[in-house]
Amino acid sequence: MKKAALGLGGIAAGPYLVPTSVFGKMAPSNRIHVGLIGAGNQSTIDLPAMLAQPDARVLAVCDVNTASYGYRTPDQFLGRKPAQQKVDAFYAAQTRSGRFRGCDAYNDFRDVLRRPDIDAVVIVVPDHWHALITVLAAEAGKDIYCEKPLSLTIRQGQEMIKAVRRHHRILQTGSHYRSSPANRFACELVRNGRIGRLIQIVGSFPENNFQDPGPDWKPMPLPAGFDYDMWLSPAPAAPYHKDRCLYRFRFNLDYSGGQVTNFGAHVIDMAQWALDADGNGPVELENAGSQWPPKGRLYTTATRVGFRARYAGGVELLCETREPGFGIRYIGTEGWVEYGYHGVQTQPASLAKSAIGPNEIHLPRSNPARSEEASKYHIPDHMRNFLAAVKSRRDPIEPVEVGHRTAPICHLGNIVMQLKRKLRWDPVKEEFPGDDEANRHLERPMRAPWHFGMPIS
Ligand SMILES: NC(=O)c1ccc[n+]([C@@H]2O[C@H](COP(=O)([O-])OP(=O)(O)OC[C@H]3O[C@@H](n4cnc5c(N)ncnc54)[C@H](O)[C@@H]3O)[C@@H](O)[C@H]2O)c1
Repeated sequence: MKKAALGLGGIAAGPYLVPTSVFGKMAPSNRIHVGLIGAGNQSTIDLPAMLAQPDARVLAVCDVNTASYGYRTPDQFLGRKPAQQKVDAFYAAQTRSGRFRGCDAYNDFRDVLRRPDIDAVVIVVPDHWHALITVLAAEAGKDIYCEKPLSLTIRQGQEMIKAVRRHHRILQTGSHYRSSPANRFACELVRNGRIGRLIQIVGSFPENNFQDPGPDWKPMPLPAGFDYDMWLSPAPAAPYHKDRCLYRFRFNLDYSGGQVTNFGAHVIDMAQWALDADGNGPVELENAGSQWPPKGRLYTTATRVGFRARYAGGVELLCETREPGFGIRYIGTEGWVEYGYHGVQTQPASLAKSAIGPNEIHLPRSNPARSEEASKYHIPDHMRNFLAAVKSRRDPIEPVEVGHRTAPICHLGNIVMQLKRKLRWDPVKEEFPGDDEANRHLERPMRAPWHFGMPIS
């Protein structure tokens, strides 16, 4: 960890420092200095989770949006200014003077990456930015917490692995159900054969939670304080419409993959963990009743998810839009295990109350210090696990390779649902053997001047 460059970025040694932390474990010189990149919807979860970590100090926030109301509730206020105020207010509350003005706000993430006093970044921007910012952050020597889905394309994920490993960085993927005790328990029941031989996994996806603006949508005037060109940047040029940006970017294939990548980055990640397939993936895929919007709409992602992925051992993963919206069911020869909004449910019911024995398979816990196994802690614990990895220089619970194994299955789902024919997949070479049409979907061009390997200066 680099030493804080005191004075840089408005940080002044002053009475706001908690005196007991000056020489101890939480001394400023032992703190991990963090920059948040992306201050939208999910940042309202990730930022407080990071602020709650006593050995981290958020010194910078970045967003191409200066400040605006959110899109969910009237009191959701998003953008770099509100985020900066939130950080300053949080640290101010810990000071005797009640004042703290140490967090800087930036429009261009490269200004965060250039700061020598920033050790780590939390990337919470739309998916079309994840790979490029991660690669540039790794090149700038930063450790990275990158939100799910790790990538927009399979080739982008491969670049992320190369950059993280070449520069000896830590990367935690934001698929935080790896830090959920209930999800871990469900996976342990499957791994320990409690439902017999696993036959099928059914991943359940919610319907799209926003309607597109219809066939007659028109470009809108740009809102003040919003750098739309920087929002789009590596994505194709496109006229501004509010339904393209905040949160709704998920439903346009130029920026994301719809509910397949949105919820799939959790649901498929659970399946991969239960299957012990973190170094592997399916070998065959087929469409299963997916539906797509008419041409010309602003939203271009599937309106109904439906595909099957088969693993070499014969297990089928069926991914579908279905009630109850988000969840997963593992079906074995002797019962089933389900995990979702209602926690863990099983057949036979007694399984849900059973304990995993000392000689059975136990999956890693992201925060071994946590005695209470409540799900409410799982995002802070995922963050805790990241910071522990930053300090120990050992991989966190969901390193770049594991996050990359999940994201491609989401992308494969979108590819097979678009091509609507059976596809064979080689999970080692990460290509469709002898299938040029399908292989063309492995990458998408970036709009100039953005490319991997570009300098940040
Ligand atoms: N782990 C989870 O459960 C979870 C939940 C929701 C979202 N996410 C992920 O978080 C990411 C963001 O989603 P969201 O719902 O917060 O979207 P959002 O649109 O609400 O927020 C994204 C923010 O990034 C900003 N931004 C865009 N380009 C930028 C750039 N180049 N530099 C700086 N800021 C930029 C936008 O202005 C916006 O404020 C997505 O990848 C999404 O999949 C994860």
